[in-house]
Amino acid sequence: MDALDVIESSANRLSMSQQNLKQFMSDHKKVKMFVGDEDLDIDRIHVNNALNKSQLARALNMRQHTLNAKIDRAISDNIIPQPLKQSIAHLFTRDHINALMEYMELPTYRSNKDPICIAVANQKGGIAKSTTTVTLGVAMALDLNLRAKILLIDLDPQGSSGTNLYNHAAQAGSSSNNDDLFLTGVDLILGEYEANSQNGEEYASAVNYFISEGATNLEAKIATALEATKPTHLPNLDVLPAFPSDERLTDIFGEMTLPQKEALFKHFNDIIDGIKQHYDIVIIDTPPQDAAFTWLGLDVANFILTPIKPSPFDVASSSNFLSNLRNRLEKLPSQGKNLRLWRSVITNHDSSSDDEVRIKLGLHRSLGANLYSSPIYKSVAFTAASALNRTIMDLKNADKVCSSRQLSSARDSFSAFYSQISADIESHFSKID
Ligand SMILES: Nc1ncnc2c1ncn2[C@@H]1O[C@H](COP(=O)(O)OP(=O)(O)O)[C@@H](O)[C@H]1O
Ligand SMILES: [Mg+2]
Repeated sequence: MDALDVIESSANRLSMSQQNLKQFMSDHKKVKMFVGDEDLDIDRIHVNNALNKSQLARALNMRQHTLNAKIDRAISDNIIPQPLKQSIAHLFTRDHINALMEYMELPTYRSNKDPICIAVANQKGGIAKSTTTVTLGVAMALDLNLRAKILLIDLDPQGSSGTNLYNHAAQAGSSSNNDDLFLTGVDLILGEYEANSQNGEEYASAVNYFISEGATNLEAKIATALEATKPTHLPNLDVLPAFPSDERLTDIFGEMTLPQKEALFKHFNDIIDGIKQHYDIVIIDTPPQDAAFTWLGLDVANFILTPIKPSPFDVASSSNFLSNLRNRLEKLPSQGKNLRLWRSVITNHDSSSDDEVRIKLGLHRSLGANLYSSPIYKSVAFTAASALNRTIMDLKNADKVCSSRQLSSARDSFSAFYSQISADIESHFSKID
């Protein structure tokens, strides 16, 4: 076989395996369930994230019979429909649980904590920034103790964190009333600077609509941003996806004068402040660049999370990023004053590699308590989940996309990291009376 044949047959095999995966996904997508007397096909992701009564009682820290009485009342008041039934199990979806918690008037995130913006940043690419962002967003949305409304903003035109989840939401059939408004985070950032482009016109017409309804200019900008968010498979998690055309920010930013740049940062800070009136936690995924996208994310962040892969090559550029971070933050318009917390997490850790284990120890020595003690281990569950446009938090063994050992290693290590980050949020962002 010559080299050309090798390329062709390899490409064929690759495309075949992708088709097999798509086929597998569609075969496995739906689960038969009873709702009342009806027999329905429900998307598996909604079933995976559903809880039965005793799981729900445990998660809400309530006695089973108290919860049962509330559920019966919520059903008879038409607050939630009948649960999904599969043989003897009665399952409540996240939509049911969300409505039920509202009905029971349980405390929300905002009743005792400040809204926050978390930027996930490291200038090195391929070290699981996007994976950490989406998995964290889903884990937070599933956390009934946190009870937060979450928005993921994808600021990486080449990444796919937001689009993955958004694609999934579209496949899962979530309905959105704003399908015709397609604005990315960068469209919102650039809006007024691009009056003569198609994106600029779409932005201006949305802003003008809200002004015609009586909003001030600032209120209209914020309303436009909120209108542009897209739903996901979870009722309390939305996304603002990025598109490759967002790359233009780099060129436009490069040509701006200093006052224009300052106005751009101010405008993005205003939008994020407005968004934080509606969302409790905003998580921004940044690209692997020391450039405008990342600076905008760093400037608005109250909490910067830096994922680090403990391999020799990756750690050198992470170290470089950290060496410049203070200086970078001080030069931004906020001068680092929005920032209240910086933490780091080891990602994609291969504990069978002596090199990685050694580097991990060194990282713990250097970063101390600022590096979470629980690393996120390398597991094919992460890549399998991402190929399905979802996260490991939305997978069950029944999905059969990887071995149960791989899935539990991924979930256990992520959960251990999650406990640490949620304890940090509790201690650093609780409201001071
Ligand atoms: N814990 C992990 N185990 C195995 N693969 C992982 C893990 N975390 C991330 N990956 C994979 O590594 C690749 C890069 O991750 P990504 O989140 O896109 O990085 P970044 O956003 O930093 O460029 C992706 O293919 C992702 O699926
Ligand atoms: Mg990325």
